[in-house]
Amino acid sequence: MAPIKTAIIGVGNCASSLVQGVAYYRESNTAQGLIHDRIGGYGAGDVEWVLGIDVDQRKVGKDIAEAIFAAPNNTAVFMPKVAPTGVKVIMGRVLDGVAEHMTGMGDKGFVVAAAPEADKARIVGALRSSGAEVLLNFLPVGSEEATEFYMECALEAGVAVVNCMPVFIASRPEWEKRFRAKRIPIVGDDVKAQLGATIVHRVLSSLFGARGVNVERTYQLNTGGNTDFMNMLDRQRLGSKKESKTEAVQAMLAQRLADENIHVGPSDYVPWQKDNTPAAAVQRRYRGADGRGIYRRRRAGGGIAAEPSRSGPWMR
Ligand SMILES: NC(=O)c1ccc[n+]([C@@H]2O[C@H](COP(=O)([O-])OP(=O)(O)OC[C@H]3O[C@@H](n4cnc5c(N)ncnc54)[C@H](O)[C@@H]3O)[C@@H](O)[C@H]2O)c1
Repeated sequence: MAPIKTAIIGVGNCASSLVQGVAYYRESNTAQGLIHDRIGGYGAGDVEWVLGIDVDQRKVGKDIAEAIFAAPNNTAVFMPKVAPTGVKVIMGRVLDGVAEHMTGMGDKGFVVAAAPEADKARIVGALRSSGAEVLLNFLPVGSEEATEFYMECALEAGVAVVNCMPVFIASRPEWEKRFRAKRIPIVGDDVKAQLGATIVHRVLSSLFGARGVNVERTYQLNTGGNTDFMNMLDRQRLGSKKESKTEAVQAMLAQRLADENIHVGPSDYVPWQKDNTPAAAVQRRYRGADGRGIYRRRRAGGGIAAEPSRSGPWMR
C-alpha cells in the first residue's frame, strides 16, 4: 500500500513522538503498543512526511527528522536515529501561534525565526507541490487565528485535515459545511494521550454510572514541563482546551454536572516534568442514586453516610 503523504503544522513534542513512532513501527514489525494494528488496511508505518511547517528558529530549515529533536522539544527520545525525510521545515505564519510570554522564556520557550513569514499562497503552494493528502494541526492551544489561517489553506489546496488541538473546527457547523462542500475529510478537534489523565477520568466516570453511583463533583489537575503547559500559563488561551477536556468527561457521566461541580484542566507548568505530564489527581465525592452512600461506614449511631473517595491515581 502506498504510504499516506502527510504534512505537519507545528513540529513540537506531539509531532516528535509521532514521527519517532512511525519510524519505530516501520522498523520493528510489531503491533505492540498500538490501539489498532491496522486502520483501513494502513499500518502505523505507512506514513510519509512530505511537509513540515513551523515558526521556531531552531526548527525552520531543518529536515523534519532533525527538527523533531530541536529545542524546546523535550519529549522522550525512543528512536534517536530517524532516517532523514528529505523534507525541510518551512517558515509558517505566526499570527497568534506564539503567545507573548513564550518568547521571554529563554531556550525553554519559543524563538521566532527571522525568515519572512509565509502568506496563504506560499502555504497552499507548498501543500500542493508536496502532494500532501493529510494535514495534521499541532499548533499551541489558543492559536485561533493561526489555525483558521491554515484551515483556509487546506481548503484551498484540497488537503484532508486531522485537527489534533482544541481550536474548534471539525466540530463547528460552519467549518464542517465548508469541508463537506469541497468533499474534503476533516476530523478533530483535539487528540487524547494514549493513557493519560483524560481517558482515565472518562473511564472512571462511566464506571461510576455503570455501578449506579451518581458523581456529585469531580476534578482533574494536570501539570507538565513542556511548551504546551508553558503556553497554557496564559489562562486566556485556555478556554477551548478546558472545554474540550471538560466535555470529554461530562459525556461519560450518567448525569451532567453543573459547571461549579466539575473542574478539568491544565493547572501549572513544572519544568522538571518535561513532556511527561505525570500528575492526574482525580477525586470524587459520590452518593448512591437514592442519596445514600454506596461505600458504607458505620457511624456510632449505626447510620449510613456517604464518604468522599480518596485521591485518585497518579498517572503517567
Ligand atoms: N501531548 C498530548 O498528549 C496532547 C493531547 C491532546 C492535544 N494536544 C495538543 O496538541 C498541540 C501540540 O502539542 P505539543 O505538545 O506538540 O506542543 P508544542 O508546544 O511542543 O508544539 C507546538 C509547535 O507549534 C509551533 N508553532 C507555533 N506557532 C506556529 C505557527 N503560527 N505556525 C506553525 N508552527 C507554529 C511551535 O514552534 C512548536 O514547534 C497542543 O495544542 C496540545 O494541547 C496534545
